[in-house]
Amino acid sequence: MTCQFPVLGQLTAADVFRVLDMERRCHLFPWTEHMIRDSLEGEHLNLAGFLEDLLVGYAFMMSALDEMHLLSLTIDVPWQGRGWGRYLLEAVMERARTLDCHSLFLEVRAGNARARNLYERAGFQVVGVRRGYYPGMAGREDALVMRAFT
Ligand SMILES: CC(C)(COP(=O)(O)OP(=O)(O)OC[C@H]1O[C@@H](n2cnc3c(N)ncnc32)[C@H](O)[C@@H]1OP(=O)(O)O)[C@@H](O)C(=O)NCCC(=O)NCCS
Repeated sequence: MTCQFPVLGQLTAADVFRVLDMERRCHLFPWTEHMIRDSLEGEHLNLAGFLEDLLVGYAFMMSALDEMHLLSLTIDVPWQGRGWGRYLLEAVMERARTLDCHSLFLEVRAGNARARNLYERAGFQVVGVRRGYYPGMAGREDALVMRAFT
């Protein structure tokens, strides 16, 4: 099995439980089965990274007119810190360009330093704050709204 970069592909409705497992490992407040099913069966876009048959990460996006919204970006725990989050994010930006989406927006927990570093290094800038947007372990947590031009 190669450990260079994952092969990019797409998730389907059959991947609901693989995504759910990863959500529960990687996020304090994971997407529910219902949210994942809605996303996979609805009009969201996704990109996923595979090592052979093993799902190692994914991104969910939504596009509207000339904007894309990154709804979720996750690299599974054993594979974090290898540059694969950056790789997947670049693939999302490339997908946005392909679809003529000139802006890519996302929301990130103010306290998620790792994700904020990743986004800032990829050229995202904070364009807004949603106060108390997320549930947190000690009360609500702000969301930073970030935008990059693709
Ligand atoms: C956030 C996440 C997607 C990053 O993916 P990753 O593969 O671990 O990150 P990468 O190895 O690609 O690193 C990309 C950048 O993240 C930052 N980063 C990585 N590890 C870090 C750490 N331990 N602390 C702080 N910043 C870190 C760095 O800026 C790094 O860039 P650099 O290598 O040029 O220094 C991944 O860790 C993850 O899925 N975390 C849990 C879910 C989550 O928080 N998702 C984002 C929600 S908005």
